[in-house]
Amino acid sequence: GSGRVTTLQIVNKNINLDGFSRSAVLAGGTFPGTPILLNKGDRMSINVVDSLTDPTMLRSTSIASHWHGVFQDGTSWADGHNLFQCPIAANDSFLYDFTPTGQVTFWYHSHLSTQYCDGLRGPLIIYDPNDPLKHFYDIDDASTIISLADWFHSPARGASIPYLYTTNTINGKGRFAGGPASPLSVITVVPGLRYRFRLISMSCEPNFVFSIDGHTMTVIEADGVSTQPLVVDSIQIYTGQRYSFVLTANQKISNYWIRSVPNFGDTSFTGGVNSAILRYLAAPNSDPTTKNTTSANPLVETNLHPLVPVAVPGLPRPGGADVVINLNIGVSVNPVVRYLLNNVSFYPPSAPALLQILSGTQLAQNLLPSGSYYSLPPNKVIEVSIPGGSDGGGPHPFHLHGHNFFVVKSAGSDKFNFKNPVVRDVINTGANAYSSHSRFVTDNAGPWFLHCHIDIHLEVGLAVVFAEDVQTVSKEVVPNAWKNLCPRYNALNPNQL
Ligand code: C2O
Repeated sequence: GSGRVTTLQIVNKNINLDGFSRSAVLAGGTFPGTPILLNKGDRMSINVVDSLTDPTMLRSTSIASHWHGVFQDGTSWADGHNLFQCPIAANDSFLYDFTPTGQVTFWYHSHLSTQYCDGLRGPLIIYDPNDPLKHFYDIDDASTIISLADWFHSPARGASIPYLYTTNTINGKGRFAGGPASPLSVITVVPGLRYRFRLISMSCEPNFVFSIDGHTMTVIEADGVSTQPLVVDSIQIYTGQRYSFVLTANQKISNYWIRSVPNFGDTSFTGGVNSAILRYLAAPNSDPTTKNTTSANPLVETNLHPLVPVAVPGLPRPGGADVVINLNIGVSVNPVVRYLLNNVSFYPPSAPALLQILSGTQLAQNLLPSGSYYSLPPNKVIEVSIPGGSDGGGPHPFHLHGHNFFVVKSAGSDKFNFKNPVVRDVINTGANAYSSHSRFVTDNAGPWFLHCHIDIHLEVGLAVVFAEDVQTVSKEVVPNAWKNLCPRYNALNPNQL
């Protein structure tokens, strides 16, 4: 790996993605943020510089970034959430310097309030220069990233998100229903070649049904884990999730609609809403006229299986784990709407959980905020079950930091799979009557966050913390710059949160 330090500058800027200009919070000045592209084994040395100036938004309080999907084995200080560090103050910076484990498709985003809805979200790809899959699937090009994101015409204010004015963007471009015909993203392909496309949902709220007219997609990766190839014609993707699929440019030279339909709001394609363009090289520079051909063969999560078989931890029966945690989703409405997990709503800690542990809190039940921490012993099998239906509607795509889940029962199914279930870091729950059951092994000490990735739901408390092996965490070696973040933040930012 290269030891090069790169700078990721967080700035405010007026941008226009859909014919409407607004102030945004941007990583590297673009939306989506600067792609962070590494090779397997590379050290990630990124100096995050907070240059935010807009006083109408969370200004000096950009927490850097959370490296979504990176396990942070032994480096939980670098996880970039306020469970792990104090925010980076305006005009301050913090160097993230660690070697990510794992490879393939990740993303990064602000993890402070609903700041990522205002723009601080971007792709993070860890390539394998010797990727065996490239040969396995005869892929000619693996450089295409497709980022899906909802976008609003004015900034979010904590729990208040201006939903009425949403444009769903693909690679930072989109058309607002009834608005101007602003440019759409164009993905150009060479006839006859085979591509690995990486699909990332950076959504704040909606999930999307993604498809490309006239083409099937062979799914080969879910959330960073290679899967057995599965041919589908549409992919429902929830916020935080990623897929890779192989697309063969084997249709006639033309333009084809790429569609990304949200689960609420304007679900039409009128005038290029919810769309982008797949253009064969030499096709005319015009909007496609293709028809939506999908729905016969959607991606069904229970049909996804890891490419390399991995034994499911625990016993092959429901609840066959060392620790079973049932999380009931609830809602309270007085005085304001809050989500609850087992009757407790999550509030961000005033001192990061990691700091609390390093300062001598040795028991999970003493961590603050109380009621939101679940103590997990090391080297045990944990099964998390989240009932579907009744409370709080859904869907609720839950993301676990520090681990992948073995999804032994998808929320979309009434069957358990203890043999070869999908392994991923965002599970969909709560969309229907079925519970979801997922397992992991506590082999990575840290105060890991488990939360609904719909940012507005997280903002109103739909989260818990799994305090895994607190004894080991208390011995974690953290850089001095990390220790200095809180004093600097407090000195530079009175009343900023
Ligand atoms: Cu991508 Cu805690 O989230």
